[in-house]
Amino acid sequence: MKKITHAVIPVAGFGTRMLPLSKSVPKELLPLGNRPAIHYVVEEAIAAGIKHIVLVGHAQKSAIENYFDINAELDTQLRHKGKNELADSLNWLPADVTVSMIRQGKALGLGHAVLAARPIIGEHDFAVLLPDVVLDPFTTDMSTDNLAFMLDAFAKDNHSQILVNTVADEDVHKYGIAQLNEGHSGNSKVGDKANVNTSFGVAGFVEKPSLAEAPSKLAVVGRYVFSNKIFDYLANTTASVGGEIQLTDAIDALISEYGVNVTTMRGDSYDAGDMRSYMQAFIYFAEQQLADDE
Ligand code: G1P
Repeated sequence: MKKITHAVIPVAGFGTRMLPLSKSVPKELLPLGNRPAIHYVVEEAIAAGIKHIVLVGHAQKSAIENYFDINAELDTQLRHKGKNELADSLNWLPADVTVSMIRQGKALGLGHAVLAARPIIGEHDFAVLLPDVVLDPFTTDMSTDNLAFMLDAFAKDNHSQILVNTVADEDVHKYGIAQLNEGHSGNSKVGDKANVNTSFGVAGFVEKPSLAEAPSKLAVVGRYVFSNKIFDYLANTTASVGGEIQLTDAIDALISEYGVNVTTMRGDSYDAGDMRSYMQAFIYFAEQQLADDE
């Protein structure tokens, strides 16, 4: 079995939907309960077996890199004051996990951001986690569900995997939407949230369609497992929807030659990049953690 150990997390976006919170604090570092949102996303990747994480960032996002680094001065000061337990809790990243950062340079879209990680990812197959999407860590097992399931599936059949979930009509226009293969009953079956990870092939994706044009209601959730070949397709992808180089277009090209599978999501996900959903997510995470403390 070929095990994927690399993951890309794009963090270059300004987070305009999160202003004014995101004006001077990267949106990825805004809290969900007692930790920054990106902390859960990195924990998810590590639980699934990822060892090398590449953040694709921007000049104004260096605080994210610092969050995953050791602050030697703070560490020394805490230990000097006898707060060893607190100091230890800040060094939570396992010794065999590396987090590195590369810059996107120009803001040309998600596809462009993923391609920017190529010099570090090299020839490896890899996962992509969009940090706006935070999967519920309280009711799913990150070592077996969702990303972990997708990595396992890839190891078995070498098919790239994309996590999808059924969304409400009014949300369809915000996402990449899957086009099911003819005769596939997936939409009605998974439409009622079976709440299990299942994997099947799809015909394609449409990026942010209107409800009328949407081929299904299965939306791309923000977790991907890619064969390294996606880089070649990204390198040949030109700007489309929103004037951006779309990951969705490169995925469509990959499908036409190699096929791509979707995995239905287990549990819930939260959009930490949208003010309303972020506030709901904050309350949920805080309530879970307060209940744990009691
Ligand atoms: C991106 C992808 C989209 C996906 C979404 C998930 O869009 O392009 O296909 O459904 O993430 O959050 P964005 O939200 O970056 O505009």
